[in-house]
Amino acid sequence: MKISVIGTGYVGLVTGVVFAQLGHKVICMDKDRGKIENLKKGIMPIYEPGLKDMAVKNHDEGRLFYSIDIKEAVQKSDLIMIAVDTMPKENWQTDLGSVKSVAKDIAKYMNGYKIVVNKSTVPVGTGNLVDKIIKMNQKKKFKFDVVSNPEFLREGQAINDTLRPDRVIIGSDNPSATIKVVQLYQDMNTVIKITKLKSAELIKYASNSFLATKISFINSIADIAEMTGSDVDEIAEGIGLDRRIGREFLNAGIGYGGSCFPKDVGSLIYTAKELGYDFTILKEVKRLNEDRINRFFSRIKKSTNLKNKTVSILGLSFKPNTDDLREAPALKLIKLILGEKAKIRVYDPVAMENAKKILKNTVEYSEDMNHCVNKSDIVILVTEWDEFKNADLKSIKSLMKGSYFFDGRNIYEPTIMKNLGFKYFSVGR
Ligand code: UGA
Repeated sequence: MKISVIGTGYVGLVTGVVFAQLGHKVICMDKDRGKIENLKKGIMPIYEPGLKDMAVKNHDEGRLFYSIDIKEAVQKSDLIMIAVDTMPKENWQTDLGSVKSVAKDIAKYMNGYKIVVNKSTVPVGTGNLVDKIIKMNQKKKFKFDVVSNPEFLREGQAINDTLRPDRVIIGSDNPSATIKVVQLYQDMNTVIKITKLKSAELIKYASNSFLATKISFINSIADIAEMTGSDVDEIAEGIGLDRRIGREFLNAGIGYGGSCFPKDVGSLIYTAKELGYDFTILKEVKRLNEDRINRFFSRIKKSTNLKNKTVSILGLSFKPNTDDLREAPALKLIKLILGEKAKIRVYDPVAMENAKKILKNTVEYSEDMNHCVNKSDIVILVTEWDEFKNADLKSIKSLMKGSYFFDGRNIYEPTIMKNLGFKYFSVGR
């Protein structure tokens, strides 16, 4: 099938590359000329394991094309995927400006029947809105159908999640359009769930909000574990063995970040409010998460004085295997520590360049982990990169001046750390 993907952000680019890999002809379109020129040269706008190789291969083999021309993208495809940004406004209402503008362009340039597939995370009812906008702006009354096909890929594992998803959700009120989108996924060994258009839109928000709830729940259990001298990791194992609960997304720590959970939880609370429903559970999930860093910071301050100390921060990205710093707990923590007049040194395996753009000269940048912890008083681990998990802890201890180690992701064994001479603090253990 000839596919166009509008928007080469995380979702759009990965989706386009994977569909090309599956043998379709794909145009990845973006209005950002610089991004498209770079993509043509094989330069990816994001760090994502495996993406570059797959993109370059499919581009070289003539299945993947890049364009800044939306007219070309619309006219040369049977199926148009909308994967543009849907950032929140101040009040967490989703800004649909980009989606609406793409819908208008599709209407303007369509030259025959098109299936318009919405991949962006958009509030329930947006599919109907896109349908209305296209109808209102069409020059010629070509037929089209709008389908919702939300994306569930995780940053850092995006290629695998897209090639081998747990499930594919296809929401449409038209069976023939549904069948065409089902065909796109039929070679993947996965469950395809067909739903109403509006259900698919809400499934995306319900999934992310449920996962965020799991995280805030286990973080609250971690607080109780700390107060009682129990161990949150053992508790997560214990409850996770119940298949109805499951072990995943029960890792306690310093809270969830990234571009998705904070935005989608906020947006669902907003949608509910508009409908006259006070979504109190989710409001509490959000509040608990926002308070996570403050709690962790208070614990650090209670244990040691930060003034004039050298503090090493290990990990900046909101999670491992990405250079994404959106809503990254590290940034909030650094701000609080700087307020205590401490000197901060940071290291992240891939997010350093992005960090420099945000943190500027407020911190010192290290080229590796050893340099970062050298002569440091306090080490704080924020992101659970493998490099940190596999570190030589003995040599870290000998490089440090002090012995305080705060682990925000519970990646080390408390007894091993204590035996090595660290004053080790983790979360809920
Ligand atoms: C999330 C969802 O997992 C994807 O299914 C979804 O497609 C995506 O949002 C999206 O809406 O685009 P992502 O934000 O890439 O994916 O990252 P996750 O792996 O879900 O992690 C989110 C945050 O939760 C991270 O800050 C992570 O550190 C935190 N987390 C995760 C925990 O604190 N504990 C856990 O047990 C798991």
